[in-house]
Amino acid sequence: MSSYIINGGKKLEGIVKISGSKNASLPIIAGAILNGKTTKLYNIPNIHDIQITLEILKLIGCKVKKKNDKITIDSSNIISYEIPYALMRQMRSSVIMAGAIVGRFKKAVFSYPGGCEIGARPIDLHLNGFRKLGINIEEEGGFIKCSCDKIVGTEIHLDFPSVGATENLILASVFAQGETIITNAAMEPEIVDLQNFLNLMGAKVEGAGTNVIRIKGVKNLKEVSYKIMPDRIEAGTFLCCCGITNGNIVLENVVPDHIVPVISKLEESGCKLYLQKDKIEIKAPKRLLCTEIKTMPYPGFPTDMQSIYGACMTVAKGTSIIIENIFENRYKYAGELIRMGAKISIEGRMAVIKGVRRLHATEVYSSDLRGGAALVVAGLHAKGITRINNIEYILRGYENFDKKLNNLGAEVTIKEGE
Ligand code: EPZ
Repeated sequence: MSSYIINGGKKLEGIVKISGSKNASLPIIAGAILNGKTTKLYNIPNIHDIQITLEILKLIGCKVKKKNDKITIDSSNIISYEIPYALMRQMRSSVIMAGAIVGRFKKAVFSYPGGCEIGARPIDLHLNGFRKLGINIEEEGGFIKCSCDKIVGTEIHLDFPSVGATENLILASVFAQGETIITNAAMEPEIVDLQNFLNLMGAKVEGAGTNVIRIKGVKNLKEVSYKIMPDRIEAGTFLCCCGITNGNIVLENVVPDHIVPVISKLEESGCKLYLQKDKIEIKAPKRLLCTEIKTMPYPGFPTDMQSIYGACMTVAKGTSIIIENIFENRYKYAGELIRMGAKISIEGRMAVIKGVRRLHATEVYSSDLRGGAALVVAGLHAKGITRINNIEYILRGYENFDKKLNNLGAEVTIKEGE
């Protein structure tokens, strides 16, 4: 596994262009399975999770071409309905392909995705929704077999506004007979992006961005070209990298509306933010002020920003409180920050962070994507050399992270794994 070597303590200054959204790309790439034609996607980030998703498409028979941030997918000759086990284990969110495969072919086979560092990550809401659509679900030996003669639209209420379940059920309902209504649906911007993409293909989806989404079944879909929305979590990450280094940066290719909770918390902590249509300038204070956050489904504070923002709070003036309401185990990063001198105590879903003057540089280990990003934020602050191991977790979700940071005045190098 490879490592970041960060020579920290430098103010970040300059301009950074935010890449396309990982979490919008994944369901939209799955959606390209539906039309049985060619789909062109732009602003796709060049990251590991995308590479895995494209690998799955190729293995089921799609032709895939990739040039920089552009990919072309031809789904006219799909020959398999099974999501390969090995790739499913590598990336649990590939379960999102199931909705598209069963939606088009009325059958799909995939393995239980398995949990990950941040929680058990069950898929009961996905499977219960599939059953309501008339899809038979057989579970044997860790595999799930979906099959049906037809998919019939119906009303599905989600016990929890699950992002993945909402996306999977939309994909499975595009060709259903009649109308599907999803209530208590997730309202994340990535779901709005999926709706815009599907409707451009000729689907009939409405309500994304609200908690009631309606999908009227159609008979077929057309070829389409589509540009993916910017990555709101990458944007929030760079805001925090600037916030902890007393920096002054400008983010380009962002949608400020997508990260209002993060913007408002950074303002509360003493940062000045200037918003334009697709730009955000942030000026950080010498020292951040403590704040309290609780993660909530959109439009609340995003769970994906919890660890990253928490890293900023380790050196804020005063004591901060974090409540993590979405995942049951999203504080793995705290132990590594404590090794850097942070004062954090975890009580179940709550983290109490007593701000210290400075973190000190040392060697730490990343164990998940956003926890790893939190260690980068901390390493940018600590004077001296911080080594972050297992950066493959971070490379899953951040395109050219080291290059973008170095263009802002940081000193980050990659030491390839032994
Ligand atoms: C998506 O994951 C994102 N991933 C996650 O981002 C993000 O943290 C999460 O939504 C919440 O915003 C992608 O979009 C690829 P959920 P997802 O279903 O769909 C429980 C990142 O860092 N649940 O909304 O898996 C679940 O256990 C990743 O980019 C069930 O109980 O999240 C969790 O506690 C990490 N049963 C809660 O709901 C189910 O069937 C939220 O999960 C499904 C979910």
